[in-house]
Amino acid sequence: MQDKPVDKKEILEELSKLHDLDHRYSDGRILGSMCTEAHPFAKEVYCKFLDTNLGDPGLFKGTKNIENEVIKSIGGLLSLDDACGNIVTGGTEANIMAIRAARNHARKYKGIVDGEIIIPESAHFSFKKAADMLNLKIVEAGLDENYRIDVDALKDVISDKTVAIVAIAGTTELGLIDPIEEVSKIAFENNIYFHVDAAFGGFSIPFLREMGYDLPVFDFSLPGVCSITVDPHKMGLAPIPAGGIIFRKKEYLEVMAVDSPYLTVKTQSTIVGTRLGASSAATYAIMKYFGKEGYGKLANEMMENTEFLYNGLLEMGYDVVCKPELNIVAFNHPEIETNLLAEKLEDLGWKVSVAKCPKSIRVVLMNHIKRAHLKELLEDLKEIY
Ligand SMILES: Cc1ncc(COP(=O)(O)O)c(C=O)c1O
Repeated sequence: MQDKPVDKKEILEELSKLHDLDHRYSDGRILGSMCTEAHPFAKEVYCKFLDTNLGDPGLFKGTKNIENEVIKSIGGLLSLDDACGNIVTGGTEANIMAIRAARNHARKYKGIVDGEIIIPESAHFSFKKAADMLNLKIVEAGLDENYRIDVDALKDVISDKTVAIVAIAGTTELGLIDPIEEVSKIAFENNIYFHVDAAFGGFSIPFLREMGYDLPVFDFSLPGVCSITVDPHKMGLAPIPAGGIIFRKKEYLEVMAVDSPYLTVKTQSTIVGTRLGASSAATYAIMKYFGKEGYGKLANEMMENTEFLYNGLLEMGYDVVCKPELNIVAFNHPEIETNLLAEKLEDLGWKVSVAKCPKSIRVVLMNHIKRAHLKELLEDLKEIY
């Protein structure tokens, strides 16, 4: 740090130069991100709440009410009245909270001390962080031929140490929905905590289902589901950071509570102490502003773009990994190796993401990728072919 204060203008110029090194969503070239540019109204509201701290909710009662309302509102979308939970920094923190609740619950009510969590091979790496922090062993359940959790493989790995089962509604690499109804039944019958990671799909599946899309049920209407991660900062168009963790029962928050002596509340269940109220306020604002109708329109548009890219790739002879269920398309060239294809696309200015399972180029059709960008992409892929 320098000794003397620096003029604002100079600082802003310096920051602006660094900011210019960033890629911009608006260029339509970022193909693999599950985040996108937040809606301007959500950003406006976010800035108004920058000083609020939900870590000390007695001081920010209004903002705490906003968080409660957002959680109830997301819970409502997921067939749960009186939902509880928190707006957190993202899917990672939401998943860590869910697994912590499951571990503590199993420790308290079943006496499990060296627990295991069962996750599908397609699970996001945040569960590896959760297991590491919470001293749990990860047991992976394999996938079926359609890249969804293999229910028989799952049954095989359940043990008396299992503290949680996880399934995904909108996998990170392929956007697929696990057979959540079947998994819920298994978890319920075995009295095991079941967490659904809908970080990506949570802000589109409910709307698409209402519009008549044939997508499976994944929410609290299934009795085995104990918690769901839903991220407003992905398909919800809220500013980063905004993740959501919704619990079926208050007791899942209670088993995580620690005393918080110097604050305005007696206990705290979240991982983070001081935490932004701005994320809750911005999410509240954008959910009101869009309503189900607005989100439905958005999700449908993303699906139409998905279909457009999918058909374009098939017409050219590219191998598409699976028929998209949500707005992700993963593909390969029949002969060119995936990394080489990714390099060729990068050379043409595309910011490409390579999926691991199966190895493929993965395009997440977010709001910043418009039809014109897709036409350009298909042109470039035609050249490469
Ligand atoms: C299914 C799923 N869960 C969790 C996460 C982690 O979310 P975040 O990056 O917001 O922590 C992601 C991120 O892409 C995801 O796709």
